[in-house]
Amino acid sequence: MSRLPPVRVARAATSVRTAVQGLTRRMVPPPIGVLELMTGLIEANTLYAVARLGVPDALADGPRTAADVAAELGTHPDATFRLLRAAAGHGLLDQDGDRFALTTLGRTLLSDAPDSMRAVVLMIGDPRYQSVWGRLPESVTTGAAQAEAVHGVSMWELLDRDPDYAATFNEAMTRLTALDWPTVEAAYDFTPFRRIVDVGGGHGQLLASMLTAAPAAEGVLLEQESLLPHAEQRLREAGVLSRCRLEGGSFFERVPDDGDLYVMRRVVHDFDDEQALALLTTVRRDMPAGATLLLLESVVPPGGGPHFSKSLDLDMLLFAGGRERTEQEFAALLGKAGLEMTRIVPTISMICLVEARPAA
Ligand SMILES: C[S@@+](CC[C@H](N)C(=O)[O-])C[C@H]1O[C@@H](n2cnc3c(N)ncnc32)[C@H](O)[C@@H]1O
Repeated sequence: MSRLPPVRVARAATSVRTAVQGLTRRMVPPPIGVLELMTGLIEANTLYAVARLGVPDALADGPRTAADVAAELGTHPDATFRLLRAAAGHGLLDQDGDRFALTTLGRTLLSDAPDSMRAVVLMIGDPRYQSVWGRLPESVTTGAAQAEAVHGVSMWELLDRDPDYAATFNEAMTRLTALDWPTVEAAYDFTPFRRIVDVGGGHGQLLASMLTAAPAAEGVLLEQESLLPHAEQRLREAGVLSRCRLEGGSFFERVPDDGDLYVMRRVVHDFDDEQALALLTTVRRDMPAGATLLLLESVVPPGGGPHFSKSLDLDMLLFAGGRERTEQEFAALLGKAGLEMTRIVPTISMICLVEARPAA
């Protein structure tokens, strides 16, 4: 099990960071503060270009000149120098004259780094994603998701029709799952369970991790048919495929009925209350009476302070018409589905474990 700081220590550190960020903002005149907030968009696009063009991979073996990098990537030499200089300004690269080297931050954009964030940057920075964010005003005006207005189809249909973007999206999900797994493993004991069902388990990253943590358990992955070959491959790589059953189908229709732990990571937040209730009602109907349900989700804290869940909430609104929820909202939703929320287990990451059981 990973050695991580306790939740209260991590929260204290986050409070200090938040206070320092607030102080930094108050140290400049308000118009400059607003300008700095807005130019975050330019920084994000710089990061995207660096990742998209493969600059980190070109610098993997050591420092190089911008001209060398441009020759390898087939990019414009002067524009490449200007991109690398800007990236150095954001801490991704070290600059020494016209030579550039990767920093620790920049190394996370290497395509084969074990902790690579490249797929996440490519998913968020992609024009197919950014064009939807451009319609946040419309989403707030109407309360409706905007993926269809931009792409002509819902986000899920787009992923179905666009294998290139689906590959980026699913790899990003896998990476994000791997990123917060150590914090989940440190907070929850998976060993008492004999059959773990991952509902909407994507590429199988979470199920692979849970089965590694619980060596005596079997696993079931329920996903859309098209993702199953990828999940099978991931589960095989993790050495747990022999303990797994993969099922294709829609979780709105049925879920496997033979688990004692049902897990849904970042699935319920994809849906508005009506759809989320339909999904949870199906899970409640099909799960055995003594089984446990675990939702891995962000929980919106009370009060007005900064929290990642509040930004992710807008992302859900825009792309799927979904939402992030408060503790009270989770309890109410689960209650309507015939489930009783037993506890919320915090972790040091943005993920909480919302635990529930069928109500008596
Ligand atoms: C936001 S992703 C989360 C994936 C995974 N749980 C994770 O945390 O990486 C939501 C997942 O739900 C799956 N999904 C969406 N609608 C579904 C449906 N009707 N039946 C089964 N799976 C579905 C998607 O294919 C996708 O893998």
